[in-house]
Amino acid sequence: MLVVENLSVAFDTPDGTVHAVNEVSFTLQKGQTLGIVGESGSGKSQLAFALLGLLARNGRATGSARFDGTELIGAPIATLNHIRAERIAMVFQDPMTSLNPYMRVSDQMAEVLIHHRGMGKSAALAECVAMLDAVKIPEARARIRLYPHEFSGGMRQRVMIAMSLLCQPDLLIADEPTTALDVTVQAQIMSLLRDLQRDFGMATVLITHDLGVIAGFAEQVMVMYGGRVMEKAPVEPFFAAPAHPYARGLLAALPRIDQEGALASIPGAPPNMTRPPEGCPFAPRCPEVGPDCRILPQLQSLGTSRLCACHRVEAPHA
Ligand SMILES: Nc1ncnc2c1ncn2[C@@H]1O[C@H](COP(=O)(O)OP(=O)(O)O)[C@@H](O)[C@H]1O
Ligand SMILES: [Mg+2]
Repeated sequence: MLVVENLSVAFDTPDGTVHAVNEVSFTLQKGQTLGIVGESGSGKSQLAFALLGLLARNGRATGSARFDGTELIGAPIATLNHIRAERIAMVFQDPMTSLNPYMRVSDQMAEVLIHHRGMGKSAALAECVAMLDAVKIPEARARIRLYPHEFSGGMRQRVMIAMSLLCQPDLLIADEPTTALDVTVQAQIMSLLRDLQRDFGMATVLITHDLGVIAGFAEQVMVMYGGRVMEKAPVEPFFAAPAHPYARGLLAALPRIDQEGALASIPGAPPNMTRPPEGCPFAPRCPEVGPDCRILPQLQSLGTSRLCACHRVEAPHA
């Protein structure tokens, strides 16, 4: 359903070109879930924005992303507007970026259905209340009359999710949907998203800097670093044994219920994307770095639907 090939995003800045996303490829089937994980600045959000034609003015995307056969990269605004409204929904970390603070939730939700589905006001409102029920907002009928700031952070994110689902999208892109929330609320929102994904059968791209969020949610995981894909794998073999040294570092840094004590964290800082290192972007921080890492490692197959870009990781011999 979504086929992304060699997608790159570059920004022109006074200090030079920022290579935010570099030659990313992946495919997503109908109903499937892909988790994209990487530290802050690794290009996750810009990748998502590029798909929806939402890059900042100084950014440009190259490569290809076909959604049900329609090319998104460089598509006319009318095509993108249509796809954004009817087929692909996006949920952000901060719901206030998408909710209008001056409008009652009822009015902004209903507007979506009135505008895109041509529904009458009262039918639209009834459907909006039903959607707020679906995302488990208590007393939805009364609370739909409130303004966004009258909801707690977690409830506001539920409103945002409900609103994004109104047009029954085929694809949901959730960019750090729980990052701003406390841990208990995070877990509630993730379990809600999992239920909705199952009930509505939509494909989902879940973007997060927290590998832990992906474990119980996605079928595929894609690890990004310095705007590049380091590893891509089905979730189960990945968590059993991540291949890339960066992925191993991320997993080692996860809090574990069965282990007490200090967390391992990956020393060093992510690369400057204006002057990315010539070889492997992770090399300056990699515990296994060697002379050959000055040459950019290509993604190679590690067996069934598993790819890794690292000179230290041996592909199985055929
Ligand atoms: N408008 C812009 N101009 C220049 N650089 C940008 C712009 N927007 C984002 N970037 C850079 O692109 C890189 C990737 O950012 P982003 O995709 O937002 O990271 P994240 O993985 O945290 O979502 C970062 O280095 C960021 O500074
Ligand atoms: Mg981001």
